[in-house]
Amino acid sequence: MNILLLGPPGAGKGTQAKKISEHYSLPHISTGDILRENIHNNTNLGIKAKSYMSKGELVPDELLITIIRGRLSKPDCSRGFLLDGYPRTVPQADALQMILTELNRNLDVVLNIDVDDEELIKRLSGRRVCASCGTSYHVIFNPPEDNGICDICKGVLYQREDDMPDAIRNRLIIYKKQTEPLIEYYDKKSLLQVIDGGKDIQQIFEDIKKVLNRYD
Ligand code: AP5
Ligand code: MG
Repeated sequence: MNILLLGPPGAGKGTQAKKISEHYSLPHISTGDILRENIHNNTNLGIKAKSYMSKGELVPDELLITIIRGRLSKPDCSRGFLLDGYPRTVPQADALQMILTELNRNLDVVLNIDVDDEELIKRLSGRRVCASCGTSYHVIFNPPEDNGICDICKGVLYQREDDMPDAIRNRLIIYKKQTEPLIEYYDKKSLLQVIDGGKDIQQIFEDIKKVLNRYD
């Protein structure tokens, strides 16, 4: 299955992607995670991306398209993949179509996780992320067992720089302008399935499985 997850910042894409990827044994490709890893390792890509990401702006399309072309060509994607956070602009979506055609592949389904702005702000401002394995927690909605420590790998939890109030505001504005048009883009291709992201984490996953089981 070739799946794409759409949704605003804080909708729960990463949270659900982890569950989908485990349940259906699909590689989880998160461009945000790839960029953060490059920043952590101080690579050329990381150095270029850092100034955009800390302000909540999008990293230029050409960098993302190169990342995705390389990643989708790896052997672990040959039996399916789960894209999270790419595409975020129409040129990125057009490039994805081209890359998939070159690889003789197609998207099966686009899941759009729908959540209102007030809830997104609450989710982003309370998010904590494990520095070692990347698992997301929330101080109220999904707290770890030990304060500040990851349940899974015992790594230290931190707050993302772009989860500060100014960057959150910027990300939501940019989402509406540049990424939201992709909902119509994929609806026109009859690939779109809307998921109510306002429910609790497990219930959303149950809803997602009901949809995905039709394609599996
Ligand atoms: P990225 O890392 O992709 O960030 P994002 O899209 O802004 O989304 P988030 O990761 O913030 O949210 P999410 O939907 O994954 O939510 P999560 O599951 O963590 O990108 C970061 C930056 O990288 C971008 O701003 C850009 O600069 C750059 N970038 C990345 N891709 C790019 C691209 N293609 N083009 C250009 N630039 C790119 O959940 C959020 C919180 O809510 C957590 O605390 C979680 O525990 C909690 N939560 C989740 N579900 C629920 C629920 N149902 N109820 C209550 N709480 C919940
Ligand atoms: Mg994420």
